Order: sequence, then structure tokens, then C-alpha cells
Amino acid sequence: NSVQRILGLESSCDETGVALVEVDGDAPPRLLAQGLYSQIAMHQAYGGVVPELASRDHVRRVLPLTREVLSQAGVALQDVDLIAYTQGPGLAGALLVGAGVAVSLAAALDVPALPVHHLEGHLLSPFLSVDPPEFPFVALLVSGGHTQLMRVDDVGAYEMLGETIDDAAGEAFDKSAKLLGLPYPGGPHLARMAEFGNPEAFALPRPLLHSGKPDFSFAGLKTAVLTQVKKIGDSPCEQTKADLAASTQAAIVEVLVKKSLLALKMTGLKRLVVAGGVGANSKLREQLNAACEKRGVRVHYPELSLCTDNGAMIAMAAALRVQRGSAEPRRDGGFEVRPR
Ligand code: KG4
Ligand code: ZN
Repeated sequence: NSVQRILGLESSCDETGVALVEVDGDAPPRLLAQGLYSQIAMHQAYGGVVPELASRDHVRRVLPLTREVLSQAGVALQDVDLIAYTQGPGLAGALLVGAGVAVSLAAALDVPALPVHHLEGHLLSPFLSVDPPEFPFVALLVSGGHTQLMRVDDVGAYEMLGETIDDAAGEAFDKSAKLLGLPYPGGPHLARMAEFGNPEAFALPRPLLHSGKPDFSFAGLKTAVLTQVKKIGDSPCEQTKADLAASTQAAIVEVLVKKSLLALKMTGLKRLVVAGGVGANSKLREQLNAACEKRGVRVHYPELSLCTDNGAMIAMAAALRVQRGSAEPRRDGGFEVRPR
């Protein structure tokens, strides 16, 4: 029969994600079940991800989580037809856990294994929503490690329009949050604090805003935030901190919105897909929605819970590739991880 069940494993950083997606002919692939184990609490004590601890925890979680997902879906392991895993980018040791488990399971079941690019997973995550985008579209990929604008004509047909020359948008959020004394990962904490702040209280730079190209730079912003943090001293009042948080967020969001509009203008496309952890930011969503509505552009986001790393996006990316015959799964037990 034409039904294929694809198990997807994500282990590139600090979330162990497992999901099962079903492909039935040309119908949109269906998410049957998913499970996520976040290591954030464990890393918080260190103010960031400790790679060695991340790898060990993936080892601990991945098989129990796989069992849970299969039982949730009511699917036996023997009925899985393909195992997809994140090949990179990410932490080498963490990636090796997912890849090693995927390839071993595949060998035991005598099914193929398929490496998936982590960013392709993010990029295609809106296809897990009830109202998926149509091709072609512009994609704004904003995560902890990447900030890119892409033209997407189909699954696998990606053209890079521009990217960051230094820090990623998520990194800018996280580093600024750390300077404000907020816990890791700082993005969502900074966003919450910003709700009570005045975004115009501090004048912060918008690097490359007028470069005329869809490129980004966030390193200078972090330095500017550091300068302000030193200025406001050791025990600023909550309002001052909220003002700085709001001003930082406003600077990042303004750049992301302006550059997205530029990419839309360059390509002439009327659809924008936002993916990656920073896509969960409500200020970004609010301002993108407003700007795009004015220009007749439709914006698609993944579900909030699927903005950050998860297994569903890996299984979905694999499913869309399988459907188009553009997947190159391996049966020889060989695998490769690509940290960069
Ligand atoms: O995509 P993701 O889970 O992991 C990577 O592949 O990097 O993105 C994580 C990033 C972190 O930098 C985190 O602080 C940021 O996304 N993030 C947010 C929000 N939620 C997550 N940044 C701003 N506002 C949020 N609400
Ligand atoms: Zn990610």
C-alpha cells in the first residue's frame, strides 16, 4: 500500500524531539503523534547549553520518548517505514545521538534512514498547521543560531537572499537578556519583561537597516545594550530594566520587519513564512502582520509550540521530500552529521 510512516528524531541542541508523520499518496502528510523533552531546566544553572550534558540527556530521553510517541499513535515500531533524523547544524555530540539511534533503529527494522537539515525542518514547519502556505514564498528563518531570508519555490528549491554577518536574532535576544540578568534562554524572558517597558526609552542601533540588501548584523546591538547596562548601574529599578528590554526588542523587530519587506519587494512575492524560535515573539508577529496587511502580503507562522526545535518538523520535512521523490534515504548504515 502507499501509506508510509515516518519517524523523525531531533537532537541538535537542547530539545529531544520525536514525532510520527504519515504519508498517504498525494494528501498532505499527517502528524500522528509527537513528543518533546526540553533540557532547558538542566542547562539553566550554567547560563547556557553545556554540550556534554546535552548529549548525555539525549541518550537518556530518546528511546523512552520514541516508545511514548508510538504508543500515543497506536503504531508498532515494526510498522515504521522510514527513520528521519537531524543531520545538522547543531552540537556534534548531540547530533550523533539522534543520528546513531536513527540509523541503528533503521538497521534493526531493515528500513532506510534519512538525514534532514535542521533549518529545512524549521522552514517547512508551517506545513504542520491546518492552513499550510502555498509555494512560492519568502521565508524568514530566525532561530538561536541563524537569521536568513530565503526564496522558497518548492521543497528543496531554496535560494538564499541574505543572512546575518555575525550574531543571529535569537542570539541577540539571548545575549541582551543575559546582560539584563535574565535566565537562559533569554528570548522569551526578555519579551515578557518588554511588555511593561517603553520601546523608545533607549536609543539603540539598527545595524545595516539601510544597506539596501536583505542582510543582518546584530553584534553591535549587543555591545550597545552592554553600554546601557553599565550606565544604569548595578541595581536599576524594574521599570528601567523593562524599558531597556523593550528598546532592545524594538530594535531587533524593526530590523527583521524591514528586511522581510525588502525581500518581498525584491522577489515580488506576496507570501511570507516565518520560522524558528524567534518566530514565537509576539511583537515580531504583531508588527509583521501590520506591515504585511498593508501590502497585501499573507504571513504564515508555525504553531507557537512548533516554532522552537521539535521532532515534528523533521518528520514533516522528510515526509514532504518522500512525497516528491526527492529524498535520498540510506540503507547501508552509514550516516553523517554536519555540526556547521
Ligand atoms: O529555533 P530554536 O528553538 O533553536 C535554534 O535552532 O536555535 O530557537 C531558539 C531561539 C532562542 O534564541 C530563544 O531565545 C528564541 O529562539 N526565542 C524567542 C522567543 N521564543 C524563543 N526570542 C524572542 N521572543 C520569544 N518569544
Ligand atoms: Zn532550531
